[in-house]
Amino acid sequence: MSRGRTAVIVGAQWGDEGKGKVVDVLTRTFSIVARYAGGHNAGHTVIIDGKKFILQLVPGGILRPGCISVVGNGVVIDPLAFLKEVASLRAAGVKVDGNLFVSNRAQIILPYHRMMELGSENAPGRVKIGTTSRGIGPSYEDKMGRRGLRVADLLDTPLLRTHIENACREKNMIAHALFNSDPLDADQMFREYSAAAEQIASFVRDTALLLNRALADGKSIVFEGAQGTMLDIDHGTYPFVTSSSATSGGASTGTGVPPTSINTVIGITKAYCTRVGSGPFPTELTDAQGEELRKRGHEYGAVTGRPRRTGWLDLPLLRYAGMINGISWLVVTKLDVLDHLAEIPVCVRYKIDGKETEEVPAQACGYERIECVYRNMPGWASPTRNVRTVEALPKAAREYLAFIEQETGARVGIISTGPDREQTVLVPEFVSALGLN
Ligand code: IMP
Repeated sequence: MSRGRTAVIVGAQWGDEGKGKVVDVLTRTFSIVARYAGGHNAGHTVIIDGKKFILQLVPGGILRPGCISVVGNGVVIDPLAFLKEVASLRAAGVKVDGNLFVSNRAQIILPYHRMMELGSENAPGRVKIGTTSRGIGPSYEDKMGRRGLRVADLLDTPLLRTHIENACREKNMIAHALFNSDPLDADQMFREYSAAAEQIASFVRDTALLLNRALADGKSIVFEGAQGTMLDIDHGTYPFVTSSSATSGGASTGTGVPPTSINTVIGITKAYCTRVGSGPFPTELTDAQGEELRKRGHEYGAVTGRPRRTGWLDLPLLRYAGMINGISWLVVTKLDVLDHLAEIPVCVRYKIDGKETEEVPAQACGYERIECVYRNMPGWASPTRNVRTVEALPKAAREYLAFIEQETGARVGIISTGPDREQTVLVPEFVSALGLN
């Protein structure tokens, strides 16, 4: 029997590219959506018939009846945040029982992770990353330090009690010594988290087994990335990154599906660029044009509400994302945000110390030496919002997209022309390559 199709959806920039919408399109024909990294630092916005859903931990497949959603082992789970999200989905009439599964090997975020993060972010002499303050980094630190608590352990009441007692003792001492933080109460934490464990138990599975069996049965899987390539712990703008493998390689380690079972990687990019938090951003605009992009694109964080930094499309970074992830298809979102422009600058090359280079700096300080070489593309200066076919796009918009294809070597498969499920252009070759018809 042939194994099912698979595709990874990965952010090609600094996150917030609109991955949620693409996952939603793919679930027309894919059977399972598996999230592989990050935690409730992510915020996927999906709008269906004008109704807005912000998903943080639960994969986008939950909004498509009949689709199975899996939270993989690569994700860090805050049980209280997960249960809150489940409750709000239930309240909105979305089915979550029997179609949403959580890996027994995923790591748990506990209150001391937030305590350590807040202390560290505000401590003098530390690099301020501008994190989402969800405890993501400290939880991954404990995972790699082999002292984390996993979902299977959360359900093991005696182990949970011992873990919380020991960890609280240690973290309280460290946080007090380093950051003068107030201690956390282990008893109260145990009560709260053992109650949460009872509610989570019915969602817990060996999801690696579930996914591999599903593939063997010919079922198809979308791997849903969180954040983006430039926030990846290894390949991003370190140390201004998140603490997980946001790139396509994470889909394998973060779900237990082998790399040999991954068929297609789809990179998502905005028609321009944004980033939240601190760190390098070569094409950043700090002027009125940047403010205009922020306003037109509603560029405020889905989770924290922070204004996003904005800038022009950065092709060297997009080529880098293509290389690191193996992107064969691109999805270009928010094309309509550029509708007002007569000319659109695009960064085509980097110069470092006066020399052109395809190399992306390994050090954050290396980005300060980048000089962006821009090319001004003609704007279309007409509305593209609601456009649903390639032919109906203005000629200059088609040329803008063709230029992206030419410069990256990837094909553009979807163009998003507005936030709603329906405001989407599907390129026919993409539809047939991905089996979406
Ligand atoms: P953390 O993931 O909360 O540790 O934050 C690390 C960096 O990643 C910060 O710059 C955050 O703003 C950024 N970040 C984390 N999650 C997202 C996301 O979903 N979209 C965009 N930026 C994110």
